Formats: sequence, C-alpha cells, structure tokens
Amino acid sequence: MITRRDYLKLCAATGVALAINPRLLLADDSPRQLLTRTIPGTSEQLPIIGLGSSASFSRIAGEGDNATVRELLQTLVEQGASVFDTAPSYGAAERVAGEIARDSGLNEKLFWATKVNVAGRGGGSADPAAARAQIEQSFDWLGKPEMDLIQVHNLGDVPTQLGLLREYQEAGRLRYIGVTTTFPEQYQELERLMSSEPLNFIGIDYAVDNRVMEQRILPLAQERGIGVLVYLPFGRTRLWQLVEGRTLPDWAAEYDIASWGQFFLKFAVSHPAVTCATPATSQVRHLIDNLGAASGRLPDEEGRQRMIAHIESL
Ligand SMILES: NC(=O)c1ccc[n+]([C@@H]2O[C@H](COP(=O)([O-])OP(=O)(O)OC[C@H]3O[C@@H](n4cnc5c(N)ncnc54)[C@H](OP(=O)(O)O)[C@@H]3O)[C@@H](O)[C@H]2O)c1
Repeated sequence: MITRRDYLKLCAATGVALAINPRLLLADDSPRQLLTRTIPGTSEQLPIIGLGSSASFSRIAGEGDNATVRELLQTLVEQGASVFDTAPSYGAAERVAGEIARDSGLNEKLFWATKVNVAGRGGGSADPAAARAQIEQSFDWLGKPEMDLIQVHNLGDVPTQLGLLREYQEAGRLRYIGVTTTFPEQYQELERLMSSEPLNFIGIDYAVDNRVMEQRILPLAQERGIGVLVYLPFGRTRLWQLVEGRTLPDWAAEYDIASWGQFFLKFAVSHPAVTCATPATSQVRHLIDNLGAASGRLPDEEGRQRMIAHIESL
C-alpha cells in the first residue's frame, strides 16, 4: 500500500503523476491536522492553505466539469482545509462551485471568500443597485443567509462598494470585509485604505519571486491587524516555467517539502503576516499536493532567505 506522502514524493521525484485517484490514498494517513493562523482580532483559526478559483479552476467550471469541481471542494474539506476564494468575474467558477457547495451541504463547512465589483479596475464608478444585485446573487448561489468574506475586487469604486459591504456586515449578513489587488499601480492606494479603513482582510499577490509586498503592505497588515489572503503564490505559470525539469534541493526536506508546489506555498505562508494562501487548481492531485504545505515544518527566516537565494540562482 502506498501512502499519500509516498505518492507525492514519488510524483515529485519522477515528475509524473501516477494513474491513481489520489483520494484513494487518503485512508492510511488521514485525517490531517493542518497548520492554522488566527484571523487578526478574533480567535478564529483558518488553515493556512485554501483553494482559489480563477485560472484553470474557472476553466473547468466553464467547461461544465461539475464532477471535478465537486471533487475539489469535497477534497478541500476532507483534508481539513476550508478557505475557498472566488469572484463573480471568474467565469462560471462562483456559480458552479456555489451551487455544488449549497446542494451538497459543503457550504456549511467552507470559509467562502468572494468579491464584489461592478466598477472595473481603478477609476470607474459602481452603480450601488448593481453592486447590491451582484452581492445578492453570491448569497443565492451559496444558499446561506450569512457569508464569511466579501472583498472589493481590484479596488473598484471602494467608497461605494466597501460602504455597501459595511452595511451588510452591520446587518449581520457578512462576517468579514476587505479589498483586493494584484496590480502594482494600486499598491499605494491599497496602503492608504489599510491605514484609513477598518478592514478585516486584504487579498494580494505574493510569491518567492514577487516580494514587493514585504516592504510596506505585509508589515502594515500586521500593525493594523488585517488578515492577508495570498494570491498568485505560483505567479500562475511563472514559477512553474522556472523550475520545469528541475529537482528540489535536498535541504527542502528540512522543511517537510516534497514538491515545488509545497516549496512555493511554504515560502508564502511562512511570512508571519499571511493568514492563508489560495492557489487555484483544476486537479485533485495538485490540490492534495498544495495542502501538503499546511503540515510539517515551515521555514524560519534563515530558511526563507535560502529559498529566495535558490530561486534567484535558477
Ligand atoms: N485581485 C484579486 O482578487 C485576485 C487576483 C489574482 C488571483 N486571485 C485569487 O488567487 C487565486 C490564485 O491565483 P491564480 O489562480 O491566478 O494563480 P496561481 O494560484 O499562482 O497558479 C495557478 C496555476 O498553478 C497550477 N497549479 C496549482 N497547483 C499546482 C501544483 N501542485 N502543481 C503544478 N501546478 C499547479 C494550476 O494549474 P492546474 O490546474 O493544472 O493545477 C494553475 O495553472 C485565484 O484563483 C483567485 O482565487 C485574486
């Protein structure tokens, strides 16, 4: 019998996926207790790895591959994780995942993080009625009276849309609110908002080869008690291209890293400001691989510098 850990090591070592349904491997060493972080200002713990839903996830949702979407959500929960990051603008992702979560009862177990934006990126203005309709649509898809987190996507008309989210929060329909951006030209505005608005979360891009956030945004999040969701922990395809055909350095085992995905994710979540990273995937075996980054040892500061140096040497 092959354990999940052995399976992942074998995949990482050979660079190929074995033709086995990865969920069949879970019986021997599950359930796992995942590493968690506290949402600042609360006693609520979140597992440090979740699932994102743009990119390849949104592609399979758009293709009508509901069976895989269901399996991904189920596996996320079975493996002890909970955070699912989505948005109305990710094609069919939020609708398909929301309806599956609603109809299967997984909506009660997931930490559902969606977004609102009817204003586009940056300067456009949001019609409050349209923004409200978008939020209500998210509630309908998920089929719950209360949502965990809604963030203003890409800082679109923050005064209007964050104001609306605050109304929902005050009415007890929304537990947490926040704003997101992955665009460098918006980082200054993000910093201003973090300093002036009461936010529970931000969602930002951060990766071992993309560390601008370490300068001001991540320290500010710690100072202001704002939770951080990490987006683009692989730079979508950028880091995969960089390590293609390369084996992990031997010392990665010192941090219980068995794959490149875990290497990249352990870097991101080992920053003390980070609450959870939400990589997207369309493949259950990749999800299980990614969730492996939520157990074992995380790199300390010396380990993090070693990881950066290694990536920069490639
Ligand atoms: N402004 C915003 O609010 C904003 C912006 C960007 C992203 N986000 C959120 O952050 C999430 C993550 O960002 P992203 O999806 O753009 O990029 P990403 O997570 O950095 O990369 C996703 C890519 O990595 C691949 N992948 C995932 N796990 C893998 C593994 N273990 N081994 C090999 N390949 C793997 C996926 O392909 P496979 O399907 O083949 O696994 C997919 O192509 C998004 O889904 C979204 O929820 C939010």
